[in-house]
Amino acid sequence: MSSQIPDSLKSVVFPGLDRTLDAVKAIRSCTIENGTARVELVLPFPGAGLQEKLTEVVTEHLKKGDVQNVEVSCELDVKGPQSGGTVGLRAKNVIAVGSGKGGVGKSTVSASLAYGLRSLGATVGLLDADVYGPSIPHLTGATGKPEVREHLNQDGSVVQRIHPVEHDGLKVMSIGFLVPEEEAVIWRGPMLHKLLTQFVSETHWGDLDYLIVDMPPGTGDVALTLSQMMSLAGAVVVCTPQKVALLDAVKAIGMYQKVNIPILGMVENMSGEIFGRGGAEETAREKGIPFLGEIPTDANIRIRCDESRIKSLFTEESATRERLEAVASAVALQAAKQFFVKPPKTTLDILQ
Ligand SMILES: Nc1ncnc2c1ncn2[C@@H]1O[C@H](COP(=O)(O)OP(=O)(O)OP(=O)(O)O)[C@@H](O)[C@H]1O
Ligand SMILES: [Mg+2]
Repeated sequence: MSSQIPDSLKSVVFPGLDRTLDAVKAIRSCTIENGTARVELVLPFPGAGLQEKLTEVVTEHLKKGDVQNVEVSCELDVKGPQSGGTVGLRAKNVIAVGSGKGGVGKSTVSASLAYGLRSLGATVGLLDADVYGPSIPHLTGATGKPEVREHLNQDGSVVQRIHPVEHDGLKVMSIGFLVPEEEAVIWRGPMLHKLLTQFVSETHWGDLDYLIVDMPPGTGDVALTLSQMMSLAGAVVVCTPQKVALLDAVKAIGMYQKVNIPILGMVENMSGEIFGRGGAEETAREKGIPFLGEIPTDANIRIRCDESRIKSLFTEESATRERLEAVASAVALQAAKQFFVKPPKTTLDILQ
């Protein structure tokens, strides 16, 4: 019996990542006895079909030696830059979902990323950073008032913390829970900054694998505020396939780069007969950034979002579910690439 992890197994490349199993700490243990190998693997990010793929790669590799049987078990343990050390947020990957243009489906994509990552096994929070037009409560059907509770600091002092609304296994926070939907919110820049800071640092999110941030359309204020507070895993840029939307998406990419938020890639939403398709993929290729997939114009998506039942897209097998989980998987993969390929930024880097 040997409890040694074979060196050759350590140097197998993790599917989709440009890193070895050893580099991403994917092998917890490996024992080989009487021709049977038992391997405990750790997935550092979730993905549709990823466990099967990894099992196949490891099995194939071990069977090249003198092993006849391979038994593999996998566990998800998401890695990330552990954003917000200085603001107390314990989210391994904070992902902003933005665009240059309004109405292209940021909120829909944000919510489906949150549900998609959750259905792939991750612990997820969803933050609605669109203070002027919060749509997350309506899209998800989440209701209720976030509670304010007292927490004891390590030094014995008492602090007040807002508790997000728990809904469908997600932690959700939105200004929509605090003011009536129809009430126009007139906030000035500094108030917006303060509110967002509270949503991030005074909210008791707990330990999250992913915090998905639904960004407002337009300006870079919110992105700047977020990037000053923490090291984000990156931004997902949503756009529709028309030329104008693509031009705005390119501006959004520039804006994120300016505030030092890495670009995880572009999603083409509402592709199909009306707006055409393929434009985002082409733009992504030209810009040298990853393409994260396309979501077709789908009446199913629109109706379920309108009826606050976005969850139902993930509770039954369907082509739409597959598509949305594929996009969530692509986002998780790119966040992992950012993390494993590039070292996380320090707070000092951000303040510079
Ligand atoms: N793939 C899709 N198929 C069909 N309808 C969609 C799709 N994506 C989004 N929609 C619909 O388009 C509308 C706008 O979507 P959404 O609110 O997500 O956009 P947004 O970019 O967040 O808008 P805003 O800039 O106002 O925040 C919604 O009615 C939504 O249901
Ligand atoms: Mg929106």
